[in-house]
Amino acid sequence: MNIVLLGAPGSGKGTQGERIVAQYGIAHVSTGDVLRGEVQAGTALGVEAKKIMDAGELVSDEIVLGMVRERLGRPDVSKGFMLDGFPRTLAQAEGLDRLLQQLGKPLDCVLFFDVDYEEIMSRLLDRGRADDNEETIRKRLEVYEAETEPLIDFYRRQGTLKKVKGVGDMDEIFNRIRAALDT
Ligand code: AP5
Repeated sequence: MNIVLLGAPGSGKGTQGERIVAQYGIAHVSTGDVLRGEVQAGTALGVEAKKIMDAGELVSDEIVLGMVRERLGRPDVSKGFMLDGFPRTLAQAEGLDRLLQQLGKPLDCVLFFDVDYEEIMSRLLDRGRADDNEETIRKRLEVYEAETEPLIDFYRRQGTLKKVKGVGDMDEIFNRIRAALDT
């Protein structure tokens, strides 16, 4: 199974994503985690990415597409993959379409986590990651609305979009996800 998790920052992509990959035995590909790994390792990309992430902006399409291309070329994606936090722009979505066509691995489902902004703000302020201060969260939400929200329609038109209510008990949300993926 090849899936994409779509949703605002703090909508639960990482949290539910861990359960999804455990349940379905697929590879977890999180562009945010890869970028944070580069920051920790102090690579040139990491130094550049840190500035962008701390400002709540997006790393360039070219860089993240290159990362995903490399990741999807590894053997552990043979049973399927879950993309978490990618694509986030129309250019990334179109690049992904081309890449998956080349690889002969079509998307089965795009899960959209529907969570309101008030809930998101409270979740992220509670978590307190480096980019979880109020100003950066507001910027991330602005960028999400401008760049990522249009992907909801993009995937609806492709017929792969499934919307899941992402608020409430974590087990309940996971049951909704399983119901969406298993039908
Ligand atoms: P990324 O790491 O992708 O962060 P994000 O999209 O901002 O998402 P988060 O990790 O904040 O939220 P999430 O939806 O995973 O929610 P989570 O499960 O953690 O990206 C970070 C940055 O990297 C970007 O801003 C950008 O700069 C760069 N980047 C990454 N990908 C990129 C791309 N493709 N292109 C360009 N740039 C890119 O949950 C959040 C919190 O809520 C947790 O504390 C969790 O415990 C809690 N929580 C979860 N579910 C519930 C629930 N049901 N009830 C209560 N609390 C809950």
